[in-house]
Amino acid sequence: MVRRKIRIQSYLKMKKRGEKISMLTAYDYQTALLLDAAEIDGILIGDSVANVVCGESTTLTATLDQMIYHATAVCKAVKYALTVIDMPFMSYQVSVEEAVRNCGRALKESGVEAVKIEGPRPETVAAITQAGIPVMGHLGFVAQSIHQLSGPKVQAKSEAAGERLLQDARDLEAAGCFAIVLEMVPANVARHVSENLTIPTIGIGAGVHCDGQILVINDILGMFEQFQPKFVKPYADVGRIVREACAAYRAEVKAQSFPTDDHAW
Ligand code: KIV
Repeated sequence: MVRRKIRIQSYLKMKKRGEKISMLTAYDYQTALLLDAAEIDGILIGDSVANVVCGESTTLTATLDQMIYHATAVCKAVKYALTVIDMPFMSYQVSVEEAVRNCGRALKESGVEAVKIEGPRPETVAAITQAGIPVMGHLGFVAQSIHQLSGPKVQAKSEAAGERLLQDARDLEAAGCFAIVLEMVPANVARHVSENLTIPTIGIGAGVHCDGQILVINDILGMFEQFQPKFVKPYADVGRIVREACAAYRAEVKAQSFPTDDHAW
């Protein structure tokens, strides 16, 4: 079968036919090549780059220049997956005008196809989509508000909060979002939201009923052994493989069994 480029329209079609959407984060060229070869439907250049790549404790330090730098590398690798860039903290919160300008810059400079912004901001979403830029929303636990939310906590636990989340999601859909990430919300709430939207929901720690799933690539590869959120399933133990490979290399260098004549001219 001929493989087709995934576009925002493809996300809507997948939801309609009940096909779950697979998304992962990537921050560099080589990883993005592998994800695209694995036929992942969407690649998010997440502001989790601040945590994963730079060792920060929050995503707040990510800058627009940094996001564009990583997105440019990812976009060079990707032929099929939909590419989405996380707009970093304070790149869209100050004013709608600044948000449109910064989202435009992200698309123009990196080649990414869509932006993701956090929180219930229908006015901002409407203005960005009006400029021809596809927007993915993000509700539930939104890491750029980590201090206001008193840490990474499950959101929308009460019935009232669940209804508020649904209203926020409906407002984002009406404003033009093509999909919405739901992070750390109870599975029944995510189900209620997913069933009441035409656009797909992409869950992370939001249960089985979302229209798609997203996880951080380093988490599913088992790269970061110090921390594993409850909603992550490691599909590989790459951390151990890298550690063992590096230890084997070190041992051979010390023992002078690497390099051999085969590795020289
Ligand atoms: O930056 C990120 O990795 C994200 C995911 C948690 C969806 O926004």
